[in-house]
Amino acid sequence: MSQYRYSTLAVHAGQHPDPQTGAVNVPVYLSSTFELTGIGTDRGWDYSRAGNPTRDRLETALAALEGGFSGHAFASGMAAIAGLVAPLRAGDHIVCSHNVYAGTVRLFNQFIAHYGIAIEYVDTSCPDAVAAAIRPTTKLVHIETPSNPTMVLSDIRAIAEIAHAKGIEVSVDNTFMSPALQSPIALGADIVMHSTTKYLNGHSDGIGGALIGSKPEHKERFLLVQKAVGAVLGPFDCYLVLRGIRTMPLRIKQHEENGRAVAEYLSTHSKVTRLAYPGLKCHPQYELALRQQKGFGSMLSFDIGARAAAGRFLGALKIFTNAESLGGVESLASHSATTTHAALSDEERAAAGITDGMIRLSIGIEDKEDLIADLEQALAAV
Ligand SMILES: Cc1ncc(COP(=O)(O)O)c(C=O)c1O
Repeated sequence: MSQYRYSTLAVHAGQHPDPQTGAVNVPVYLSSTFELTGIGTDRGWDYSRAGNPTRDRLETALAALEGGFSGHAFASGMAAIAGLVAPLRAGDHIVCSHNVYAGTVRLFNQFIAHYGIAIEYVDTSCPDAVAAAIRPTTKLVHIETPSNPTMVLSDIRAIAEIAHAKGIEVSVDNTFMSPALQSPIALGADIVMHSTTKYLNGHSDGIGGALIGSKPEHKERFLLVQKAVGAVLGPFDCYLVLRGIRTMPLRIKQHEENGRAVAEYLSTHSKVTRLAYPGLKCHPQYELALRQQKGFGSMLSFDIGARAAAGRFLGALKIFTNAESLGGVESLASHSATTTHAALSDEERAAAGITDGMIRLSIGIEDKEDLIADLEQALAAV
Protein backbone atom coordinates (compact mmCIF):
# COMPACT_ATOMS: atom_id res chain seq x y z
CA MET A 1 0.00 0.00 0.00
CA SER A 2 3.05 2.27 0.25
CA GLN A 3 2.20 3.84 -3.13
CA TYR A 4 -0.85 5.54 -1.61
CA ARG A 5 -1.10 8.93 0.05
CA TYR A 6 -1.88 9.51 3.66
CA SER A 7 -5.70 9.74 3.82
CA THR A 8 -6.03 6.72 1.53
CA LEU A 9 -3.74 4.75 3.82
CA ALA A 10 -5.75 5.82 6.88
CA VAL A 11 -8.95 4.49 5.34
CA HIS A 12 -7.55 1.36 3.69
CA ALA A 13 -4.27 0.13 5.24
CA GLY A 14 -5.12 -3.04 7.16
CA GLN A 15 -8.81 -2.31 6.52
CA HIS A 16 -9.57 -4.29 3.36
CA PRO A 17 -12.97 -6.06 3.23
CA ASP A 18 -13.16 -9.36 5.11
CA PRO A 19 -12.29 -12.06 2.51
CA GLN A 20 -14.83 -14.51 3.94
CA THR A 21 -17.93 -12.29 4.25
CA GLY A 22 -17.10 -9.08 2.38
CA ALA A 23 -17.72 -7.03 5.55
CA VAL A 24 -16.21 -3.58 4.97
CA ASN A 25 -15.37 -3.19 8.64
CA VAL A 26 -12.66 -5.28 10.24
CA PRO A 27 -14.22 -8.23 12.11
CA VAL A 28 -13.56 -8.35 15.88
CA TYR A 29 -12.11 -11.78 16.63
CA LEU A 30 -12.80 -12.34 20.30
CA SER A 31 -11.27 -15.81 20.34
CA SER A 32 -8.42 -16.40 22.79
CA THR A 33 -7.35 -19.57 20.99
CA PHE A 34 -7.47 -20.93 17.42
CA GLU A 35 -7.95 -24.44 16.03
CA LEU A 36 -4.68 -25.97 14.86
CA THR A 37 -4.63 -27.76 11.50
CA GLY A 38 -2.24 -30.44 12.67
CA ILE A 39 0.80 -30.85 14.84
CA GLY A 40 2.73 -27.59 14.64
CA THR A 41 0.52 -26.18 11.87
CA ASP A 42 -2.17 -23.50 12.00
CA ARG A 43 -4.00 -20.96 9.83
CA GLY A 44 -1.71 -18.11 10.92
CA TRP A 45 -2.90 -17.78 14.50
CA ASP A 46 -2.72 -20.09 17.50
CA TYR A 47 -3.23 -17.99 20.64
CA SER A 48 -4.32 -14.33 20.89
CA ARG A 49 -1.48 -13.13 23.12
CA ALA A 50 0.93 -14.07 20.32
CA GLY A 51 -1.31 -12.83 17.50
CA ASN A 52 -4.94 -12.01 16.77
CA PRO A 53 -6.50 -11.32 13.35
CA THR A 54 -8.07 -8.00 14.46
CA ARG A 55 -4.83 -6.89 16.11
CA ASP A 56 -2.92 -7.85 12.94
CA ARG A 57 -5.09 -5.46 10.95
CA LEU A 58 -4.37 -2.59 13.35
CA GLU A 59 -0.67 -3.40 13.37
CA THR A 60 -0.63 -3.33 9.56
CA ALA A 61 -2.32 0.08 9.61
CA LEU A 62 0.10 1.45 12.21
CA ALA A 63 3.16 0.31 10.23
CA ALA A 64 1.75 1.87 7.04
CA LEU A 65 0.93 5.20 8.70
CA GLU A 66 4.40 5.54 10.23
CA GLY A 67 6.27 4.17 7.19
CA GLY A 68 7.65 1.36 9.37
CA PHE A 69 8.38 -2.33 8.83
CA SER A 70 6.04 -3.64 11.54
CA GLY A 71 3.49 -2.37 14.04
CA HIS A 72 2.83 -3.80 17.51
CA ALA A 73 -0.25 -2.92 19.56
CA PHE A 74 0.03 -2.81 23.35
CA ALA A 75 -2.49 -2.48 26.18
CA SER A 76 -1.52 1.16 26.83
CA GLY A 77 1.09 3.72 25.89
CA MET A 78 2.91 2.80 29.09
CA ALA A 79 2.85 -0.90 28.15
CA ALA A 80 4.41 0.08 24.81
CA ILE A 81 7.22 2.00 26.57
CA ALA A 82 7.74 -0.97 28.89
CA GLY A 83 7.94 -3.16 25.76
CA LEU A 84 10.44 -0.77 24.21
CA VAL A 85 12.90 -1.20 27.09
CA ALA A 86 12.07 -4.82 28.04
CA PRO A 87 14.82 -6.26 25.78
CA LEU A 88 17.55 -4.14 27.47
CA ARG A 89 19.92 -5.81 29.94
CA ALA A 90 21.64 -4.92 33.20
CA GLY A 91 24.53 -2.58 32.46
CA ASP A 92 22.79 -0.90 29.51
CA HIS A 93 22.26 2.86 29.47
CA ILE A 94 19.33 4.94 28.14
CA VAL A 95 19.52 8.62 27.24
CA CYS A 96 16.04 10.12 27.65
CA SER A 97 14.52 13.58 27.12
CA HIS A 98 14.33 15.29 30.50
CA ASN A 99 10.81 16.55 29.86
CA VAL A 100 9.07 13.35 28.74
CA TYR A 101 5.62 12.34 29.97
CA ALA A 102 5.94 11.86 33.74
CA GLY A 103 4.65 8.27 33.51
CA THR A 104 7.73 7.42 31.45
CA VAL A 105 9.96 8.81 34.20
CA ARG A 106 7.97 6.87 36.84
CA LEU A 107 8.40 3.61 34.90
CA PHE A 108 12.11 4.20 34.29
CA ASN A 109 12.97 5.35 37.84
CA GLN A 110 10.74 3.03 39.87
CA PHE A 111 11.19 -0.18 37.84
CA ILE A 112 13.68 -0.14 34.96
CA ALA A 113 16.47 1.46 37.03
CA HIS A 114 16.15 -1.40 39.54
CA TYR A 115 17.03 -3.90 36.81
CA GLY A 116 20.53 -2.39 36.60
CA ILE A 117 19.73 -0.22 33.57
CA ALA A 118 21.03 3.35 33.90
CA ILE A 119 18.81 6.20 32.69
CA GLU A 120 20.15 9.67 32.08
CA TYR A 121 17.74 12.56 31.50
CA VAL A 122 19.09 15.28 29.25
CA ASP A 123 17.76 18.33 27.46
CA THR A 124 17.34 16.68 24.05
CA SER A 125 16.35 20.03 22.50
CA CYS A 126 20.13 20.47 22.42
CA PRO A 127 21.69 17.69 20.22
CA ASP A 128 25.11 18.41 21.76
CA ALA A 129 23.70 17.42 25.17
CA VAL A 130 22.68 14.07 23.65
CA ALA A 131 26.16 13.58 22.20
CA ALA A 132 27.74 14.40 25.57
CA ALA A 133 25.51 11.92 27.44
CA ILE A 134 26.33 8.93 25.24
CA ARG A 135 28.44 6.24 26.94
CA PRO A 136 29.92 3.01 25.58
CA THR A 137 26.96 1.22 27.21
CA THR A 138 24.22 3.43 25.69
CA LYS A 139 21.71 1.30 23.80
CA LEU A 140 18.80 3.70 23.30
CA VAL A 141 18.08 7.42 22.96
CA HIS A 142 14.40 7.98 23.74
CA ILE A 143 12.90 11.36 22.89
CA GLU A 144 9.48 12.95 23.04
CA THR A 145 8.90 15.84 20.66
CA PRO A 146 7.12 18.14 21.21
CA SER A 147 7.48 17.62 24.93
CA ASN A 148 4.60 17.40 27.37
CA PRO A 149 3.42 20.03 28.38
CA THR A 150 6.17 22.52 27.61
CA MET A 151 6.07 22.02 23.82
CA VAL A 152 9.85 21.95 23.47
CA LEU A 153 11.07 20.27 20.28
CA SER A 154 13.98 17.89 19.77
CA ASP A 155 15.62 17.63 16.35
CA ILE A 156 14.97 14.00 15.34
CA ARG A 157 17.30 14.03 12.32
CA ALA A 158 20.23 15.56 14.23
CA ILE A 159 19.79 13.16 17.17
CA ALA A 160 19.50 10.12 14.88
CA GLU A 161 22.76 11.09 13.15
CA ILE A 162 24.57 11.42 16.50
CA ALA A 163 23.19 8.12 17.83
CA HIS A 164 23.67 6.13 14.62
CA ALA A 165 27.32 7.18 14.41
CA LYS A 166 27.75 5.14 17.62
CA GLY A 167 25.40 2.30 16.62
CA ILE A 168 22.68 3.41 19.06
CA GLU A 169 18.95 3.26 18.32
CA VAL A 170 16.59 6.22 18.58
CA SER A 171 12.96 5.92 19.64
CA VAL A 172 10.45 8.76 19.40
CA ASP A 173 7.24 9.15 21.39
CA ASN A 174 5.09 10.58 18.56
CA THR A 175 1.89 10.79 20.62
CA PHE A 176 1.57 14.59 20.61
CA MET A 177 1.90 14.93 16.83
CA SER A 178 0.19 11.72 15.62
CA PRO A 179 1.44 9.99 12.47
CA ALA A 180 -0.49 12.63 10.48
CA LEU A 181 1.86 15.44 11.49
CA GLN A 182 5.26 13.88 12.11
CA SER A 183 7.08 10.90 10.57
CA PRO A 184 10.03 10.07 12.84
CA ILE A 185 11.18 7.06 10.78
CA ALA A 186 11.46 9.23 7.65
CA LEU A 187 13.59 11.61 9.74
CA GLY A 188 15.95 8.78 10.76
CA ALA A 189 14.41 7.35 13.96
CA ASP A 190 14.49 3.57 14.40
CA ILE A 191 11.36 3.06 16.49
CA VAL A 192 8.17 5.09 16.96
CA MET A 193 6.04 4.84 20.07
CA HIS A 194 2.42 5.99 20.50
CA SER A 195 -0.19 6.21 23.15
CA THR A 196 -3.05 5.29 20.78
CA THR A 197 -5.31 6.53 23.58
CA LYS A 198 -4.81 10.00 22.04
CA TYR A 199 -5.11 11.10 18.39
CA LEU A 200 -5.02 7.63 16.80
CA ASN A 201 -8.14 6.49 18.63
CA GLY A 202 -9.30 10.08 18.84
CA HIS A 203 -12.52 9.64 20.83
CA SER A 204 -11.30 9.22 24.42
CA ASP A 205 -12.90 5.80 24.68
CA GLY A 206 -9.97 3.41 24.86
CA ILE A 207 -6.51 3.07 26.36
CA GLY A 208 -3.87 1.64 24.03
CA GLY A 209 -0.29 1.90 22.85
CA ALA A 210 1.95 0.99 19.95
CA LEU A 211 5.51 0.45 18.86
CA ILE A 212 6.41 0.71 15.19
CA GLY A 213 9.79 -0.66 14.15
CA SER A 214 11.68 0.23 11.00
CA LYS A 215 13.60 -3.04 10.48
CA PRO A 216 12.91 -6.79 10.36
CA GLU A 217 14.86 -7.25 13.63
CA HIS A 218 12.37 -4.92 15.39
CA LYS A 219 9.52 -7.14 14.25
CA GLU A 220 11.18 -10.20 15.76
CA ARG A 221 12.04 -8.28 18.95
CA PHE A 222 8.61 -6.79 19.58
CA LEU A 223 6.68 -9.95 18.60
CA LEU A 224 8.67 -11.72 21.29
CA VAL A 225 7.95 -8.93 23.80
CA GLN A 226 4.21 -9.17 23.03
CA LYS A 227 4.25 -12.94 23.45
CA ALA A 228 6.55 -13.06 26.49
CA VAL A 229 5.26 -10.07 28.46
CA GLY A 230 1.69 -10.24 27.21
CA ALA A 231 0.56 -6.61 27.60
CA VAL A 232 -1.25 -6.68 24.25
CA LEU A 233 -4.27 -4.68 23.09
CA GLY A 234 -7.60 -6.56 23.16
CA PRO A 235 -9.45 -7.14 19.88
CA PHE A 236 -12.32 -4.74 20.54
CA ASP A 237 -9.93 -1.93 21.48
CA CYS A 238 -7.97 -2.70 18.30
CA TYR A 239 -11.20 -2.25 16.37
CA LEU A 240 -11.86 1.12 18.05
CA VAL A 241 -8.39 2.37 17.14
CA LEU A 242 -8.86 1.16 13.55
CA ARG A 243 -12.17 3.03 13.37
CA GLY A 244 -10.51 6.16 14.79
CA ILE A 245 -7.68 5.94 12.25
CA ARG A 246 -10.16 6.09 9.35
CA THR A 247 -11.16 9.66 10.26
CA MET A 248 -7.81 10.76 11.70
CA PRO A 249 -6.69 12.88 8.70
CA LEU A 250 -9.98 14.83 8.80
CA ARG A 251 -9.94 15.19 12.57
CA ILE A 252 -6.35 16.39 12.59
CA LYS A 253 -7.14 19.11 10.03
CA GLN A 254 -9.80 20.52 12.36
CA HIS A 255 -7.65 20.03 15.49
CA GLU A 256 -4.88 21.96 13.74
CA GLU A 257 -7.07 24.82 12.55
CA ASN A 258 -8.53 25.23 16.03
CA GLY A 259 -5.13 24.89 17.72
CA ARG A 260 -3.69 27.74 15.66
CA ALA A 261 -6.73 29.96 16.27
CA VAL A 262 -6.67 29.39 20.04
CA ALA A 263 -2.90 29.96 20.21
CA GLU A 264 -3.22 33.23 18.31
CA TYR A 265 -6.03 34.36 20.61
CA LEU A 266 -4.08 33.50 23.78
CA SER A 267 -0.93 35.19 22.45
CA THR A 268 -2.71 38.56 22.66
CA HIS A 269 -4.32 38.08 26.11
CA SER A 270 -2.96 40.26 28.90
CA LYS A 271 -3.38 37.57 31.62
CA VAL A 272 -1.42 34.95 29.69
CA THR A 273 2.30 34.70 30.22
CA ARG A 274 4.63 32.12 28.66
CA LEU A 275 2.51 30.62 25.90
CA ALA A 276 4.04 27.51 24.32
CA TYR A 277 2.79 26.53 20.85
CA PRO A 278 5.29 25.59 18.11
CA GLY A 279 3.11 27.21 15.41
CA LEU A 280 3.68 30.74 16.71
CA LYS A 281 6.61 32.60 15.16
CA CYS A 282 7.68 33.63 18.66
CA HIS A 283 8.25 29.95 19.62
CA PRO A 284 12.05 29.62 19.81
CA GLN A 285 11.95 26.47 17.65
CA TYR A 286 9.41 27.62 15.07
CA GLU A 287 11.89 26.95 12.23
CA LEU A 288 12.52 23.40 13.47
CA ALA A 289 8.76 22.82 13.73
CA LEU A 290 8.36 23.95 10.10
CA ARG A 291 11.16 21.63 9.00
CA GLN A 292 10.34 18.55 11.06
CA GLN A 293 6.56 18.57 11.42
CA LYS A 294 3.77 18.58 8.85
CA GLY A 295 1.72 20.86 11.07
CA PHE A 296 1.76 22.35 14.53
CA GLY A 297 -0.85 20.20 16.24
CA SER A 298 -3.43 21.18 18.79
CA MET A 299 -1.57 20.96 22.08
CA LEU A 300 -0.44 24.09 23.88
CA SER A 301 0.35 25.30 27.36
CA PHE A 302 0.37 28.69 29.02
CA ASP A 303 0.85 30.28 32.39
CA ILE A 304 -1.64 32.43 34.28
CA GLY A 305 0.39 33.07 37.39
CA ALA A 306 -0.46 31.32 40.65
CA ARG A 307 -2.03 27.93 41.33
CA ALA A 308 -5.20 29.62 42.67
CA ALA A 309 -5.64 31.45 39.35
CA ALA A 310 -5.27 28.16 37.48
CA GLY A 311 -7.95 26.64 39.75
CA ARG A 312 -10.37 29.52 39.13
CA PHE A 313 -9.78 29.32 35.37
CA LEU A 314 -10.42 25.56 35.25
CA GLY A 315 -13.54 25.92 37.40
CA ALA A 316 -15.01 28.58 35.09
CA LEU A 317 -14.64 26.65 31.81
CA LYS A 318 -17.91 25.52 30.20
CA ILE A 319 -16.92 23.71 26.97
CA PHE A 320 -13.40 22.60 27.89
CA THR A 321 -13.43 19.75 30.41
CA ASN A 322 -10.94 19.78 33.27
CA ALA A 323 -9.41 16.37 32.57
CA GLU A 324 -6.11 14.66 31.82
CA SER A 325 -5.35 13.15 28.42
CA LEU A 326 -5.43 14.68 24.96
CA GLY A 327 -6.15 14.02 21.32
CA GLY A 328 -9.89 13.37 21.59
CA VAL A 329 -12.58 15.24 19.65
CA GLU A 330 -13.51 17.19 22.80
CA SER A 331 -11.38 20.02 24.17
CA LEU A 332 -9.66 19.38 27.50
CA ALA A 333 -7.83 21.62 29.94
CA SER A 334 -5.58 20.37 32.70
CA HIS A 335 -3.31 21.55 35.47
CA SER A 336 -0.11 19.67 34.60
CA ALA A 337 1.62 20.12 37.97
CA THR A 338 -1.10 18.19 39.85
CA THR A 339 -2.22 15.74 37.14
CA THR A 340 0.04 14.40 34.36
CA HIS A 341 3.22 15.53 36.13
CA ALA A 342 2.21 14.94 39.76
CA ALA A 343 4.56 11.93 39.81
CA LEU A 344 7.59 14.25 39.52
CA SER A 345 9.30 15.77 42.54
CA ASP A 346 9.15 19.58 42.94
CA GLU A 347 12.74 19.77 41.71
CA GLU A 348 12.04 17.57 38.67
CA ARG A 349 8.98 19.68 37.79
CA ALA A 350 10.96 22.88 38.10
CA ALA A 351 13.73 21.45 35.91
CA ALA A 352 11.14 20.49 33.29
CA GLY A 353 9.70 24.05 33.34
CA ILE A 354 6.30 23.03 34.75
CA THR A 355 4.97 25.83 36.92
CA ASP A 356 2.01 26.01 39.33
CA GLY A 357 0.14 28.43 37.09
CA MET A 358 0.55 26.32 33.97
CA ILE A 359 -2.50 25.08 32.07
CA ARG A 360 -2.29 22.58 29.23
CA LEU A 361 -4.96 22.59 26.53
CA SER A 362 -5.85 19.80 24.14
CA ILE A 363 -7.88 21.58 21.48
CA GLY A 364 -10.74 19.50 20.09
CA ILE A 365 -12.74 19.76 16.90
CA GLU A 366 -15.59 22.00 18.12
CA ASP A 367 -16.22 25.42 16.50
CA LYS A 368 -13.17 27.55 17.24
CA GLU A 369 -15.29 30.65 17.95
CA ASP A 370 -17.05 28.78 20.79
CA LEU A 371 -13.72 27.56 22.20
CA ILE A 372 -12.26 31.07 22.19
CA ALA A 373 -15.40 32.51 23.82
CA ASP A 374 -15.14 29.86 26.54
CA LEU A 375 -11.49 30.70 27.21
CA GLU A 376 -12.34 34.41 27.23
CA GLN A 377 -15.01 34.08 29.91
CA ALA A 378 -12.83 31.73 32.02
CA LEU A 379 -9.87 34.13 31.84
CA ALA A 380 -12.20 36.96 32.86
CA ALA A 381 -12.98 34.97 36.02
CA VAL A 382 -9.31 34.85 37.00
C1 LIG B 1 3.27 11.67 25.40
C2 LIG B 1 2.67 10.51 26.13
N1 LIG B 1 3.30 9.32 26.08
C3 LIG B 1 2.80 8.24 26.72
C4 LIG B 1 1.65 8.31 27.45
C5 LIG B 1 1.13 7.09 28.16
O1 LIG B 1 0.05 6.57 27.44
P1 LIG B 1 -1.15 5.73 28.10
O2 LIG B 1 -1.89 6.68 29.01
O3 LIG B 1 -1.95 5.27 26.92
O4 LIG B 1 -0.54 4.62 28.87
C6 LIG B 1 0.96 9.53 27.54
C7 LIG B 1 -0.27 9.63 28.32
O5 LIG B 1 -0.79 10.71 28.56
C8 LIG B 1 1.49 10.65 26.85
O6 LIG B 1 0.88 11.84 26.90
